[in-house]
Amino acid sequence: MPLIKYLGSKRLLLPAIRRIVAAVPGARTVIDPFSGTARVGKALKADGFRVFANDHNAYAATIARCYVQADRERHAVRATELLRELDALPATPDWFTATYCEAARYFRPENGGRIEAIRNAIATARHEPELEAILLTALLEAADRVDSTVGVQMAYLKRWAQRAAQPLELRLPELAPAVATGPCLATELDAREFAARHECDVAYLDPPYNQHSYLGNYHVWETLVRWDRPSTYGIAQKRIDCRERRSAFNGKRSCREALRAVVEAVRARVLIVSFNDEGHLSREEIEALLLPLGAVHVMATRFPRYVGAKIGVFNPSGERVGEPTHLANHELLFVVDMAGTGVVWPGVLEGAASHLRIATTPGSTRAIAPSE
Ligand SMILES: C[S@@+](CC[C@H](N)C(=O)[O-])C[C@H]1O[C@@H](n2cnc3c(N)ncnc32)[C@H](O)[C@@H]1O
Repeated sequence: MPLIKYLGSKRLLLPAIRRIVAAVPGARTVIDPFSGTARVGKALKADGFRVFANDHNAYAATIARCYVQADRERHAVRATELLRELDALPATPDWFTATYCEAARYFRPENGGRIEAIRNAIATARHEPELEAILLTALLEAADRVDSTVGVQMAYLKRWAQRAAQPLELRLPELAPAVATGPCLATELDAREFAARHECDVAYLDPPYNQHSYLGNYHVWETLVRWDRPSTYGIAQKRIDCRERRSAFNGKRSCREALRAVVEAVRARVLIVSFNDEGHLSREEIEALLLPLGAVHVMATRFPRYVGAKIGVFNPSGERVGEPTHLANHELLFVVDMAGTGVVWPGVLEGAASHLRIATTPGSTRAIAPSE
């Protein structure tokens, strides 16, 4: 699946999430307020659900507009033609190449100049939002395939990554067909405001779980989508607004109230929350927060840590300064039955866990009665 490299992406957990959502009787609509790469919404749309996706960063909202909101029947033919034309444009290196290929080295200048030509052409054409989102997503994914990082844009490699030498190549994103349950939607709002707007059957919450800002880690994607020629700072050439645009979920002290506010805004029959056992909130703290809403069931899955953690720790100049500490952690999925659906959740979670190809933690599926 050609989606961008992304911290916290739920690629491996996806089969379990799909099974859990499929188990909700009569469910038609799902909200995903922290959509990231949009892979969860994309998969649920493919399963026939009407999905409302959202992320407060522009690049992620754009990816969701492509994979969740845009329907294949409407856009695939035109997008294919346009991508062919864009792919043939000669490089026009300017500020983007100077900033991200020379001052910093995320892409080789020959690819940077082509990224710049393609992005300028998309801006000039002023396509309707869904078509534009498809073209921008194709460009992000093409750039991601030839970048020279370990998967985050806090630093770039001291020596060019091998893949950076490949020529940039635009490909049509794998669009999902329209669903019978109704039009899907993608927005760029704060998660709490978004959750309050959409009543649904299932809400899937996948907030950031530690101090690392997604905007800081993916600032080049934000710039590529906004195309606003921001002032930049530091070796990583981050956008100046990385200093002010913060998520309350990244703060140790603010994240509990931030999660509580979103959870309280949700109007769903079943709530699913993803979190990680290395995050700001412990499993017990999250259970305590969810318990007033209904019976809580938890599934813990052991995962290899993200690729950067396995490679080691790098300083901003791309030098290796530390060894990886540990190679696995646990992803937690909390399921809250807010409507008394009658589903036997421990059985569903065990089935979902056995569907995963990676190890689950034995005996970790447990149900908590609201009165406990
Ligand atoms: C763990 S990632 C989601 C990953 C996603 N489920 C996937 O599979 O790719 C969390 C996302 O929440 C977004 N985010 C952080 N704070 C937010 C907020 N207050 N409102 C909306 N989105 C937010 C980040 O931009 C990031 O994309």
